[in-house]
Amino acid sequence: MSSTLARGSAAEVSRREITTPDELPEEGPVELSLRPQRLAEFIGQPKVKETLRIYIDAALARREPLDHVLFFGPPGLGKTTLAELIAREVGANIHTKSGPSLEKPGDLVGTLTNLRQGDVLFIDEIHRLRPVIEEFLYPAMEDFKIEIRLSDGPKAQTITMPVERFTLVGATTRLGMLTAPLRARFGIEQRLNYYPAEDLETIVRRTADVLKVGIDPGGTSEIARRSRGTPRVANRLLRRVRDFAQVRADGAITEAVAQQALQMLDVDQLGLDDMDARILRTIIEKFEGGPVGIGTIATAVAEDPGTIEEVYEPFLVQNGFLHRTPRGRVATLTAYRHFGFEPPAGGGGSHGLQPGLFPDA
Ligand SMILES: Nc1ncnc2c1ncn2[C@@H]1O[C@H](COP(=O)(O)OP(=O)(O)OP(=O)(O)O)[C@@H](O)[C@H]1O
Ligand SMILES: [Mg+2]
Repeated sequence: MSSTLARGSAAEVSRREITTPDELPEEGPVELSLRPQRLAEFIGQPKVKETLRIYIDAALARREPLDHVLFFGPPGLGKTTLAELIAREVGANIHTKSGPSLEKPGDLVGTLTNLRQGDVLFIDEIHRLRPVIEEFLYPAMEDFKIEIRLSDGPKAQTITMPVERFTLVGATTRLGMLTAPLRARFGIEQRLNYYPAEDLETIVRRTADVLKVGIDPGGTSEIARRSRGTPRVANRLLRRVRDFAQVRADGAITEAVAQQALQMLDVDQLGLDDMDARILRTIIEKFEGGPVGIGTIATAVAEDPGTIEEVYEPFLVQNGFLHRTPRGRVATLTAYRHFGFEPPAGGGGSHGLQPGLFPDA
């Protein structure tokens, strides 16, 4: 196979990139500029916001640091944003680390001993912490002290040092990979969900304001509808459509401009990304619509089963493309129609729930 084929066509690559919920390499600075500055500016997720507001106000009133907070949910829904908002709301500094980048306890000693009371230590991808780091963190989280080994070996001397009372904020897309003892040490646990269209529209309007681009309600809803329930994707689509509007129209984003731009960019009508499409097409084309086990799907699309279960499946189930049945996953009528397949006799979707229609063989 030639390398071009192996990587997919240019169109495929750009399509994969434009709707991926993951942050693209060049997006760091622009995302930073779009982050809400106060909790009240954070759009949607009313339960999460209300809960945090109460805990933050209570902590401030008691002049105590906020309890440790764990955010979990699919990429691009606002976990990092909320970690930064917490620090700002309690008036503290935030120190950011990423799970995989911490190799040995020594990598955290400097940060921990320099923390001031109430500071936020944000650990992203916290499910990827090494066991030695986790164990080092337990006493820090519980008793605000750390144990430093002065040498190697069984008889190594250790010294115990106090650290200021801080707030650990952890973020993960894979809650299932967190160890139970680590998870138990968070006093506050909040799940982020996909955003409904109204909230995405508000986000698109706010971002258009920040970027000083004109957009009408039709353009707003067109972008929101295709954003896979994900603010990061909504912001990205808005930026790409803005470019199109500048070059091909008079700069303003109308419904027609948004439709043309998104069609040209090959963005799915309902916001499905490349992996969503591969999962559904695989179930339909290779497994006659299911039911099929998550492990089998994972092998067929070359993705980790846990990632499919925690990152992709919730969106597909929530939006009626996929059913979970005791015997496996089933593509729904909506999925068949979306990809232009003839639904099976008995009518897609429900067939997994009707034993006999699809024999095991
Ligand atoms: N509720 C929201 N209101 C406004 N903007 C938002 C909201 N949630 C997320 N965003 C914007 O979407 C982008 C992605 O958010 P963020 O980086 O916080 O996601 P994340 O959950 O940390 O993703 P990942 O799992 O990839 O780390 C940011 O630019 C952020 O400002
Ligand atoms: Mg993040």
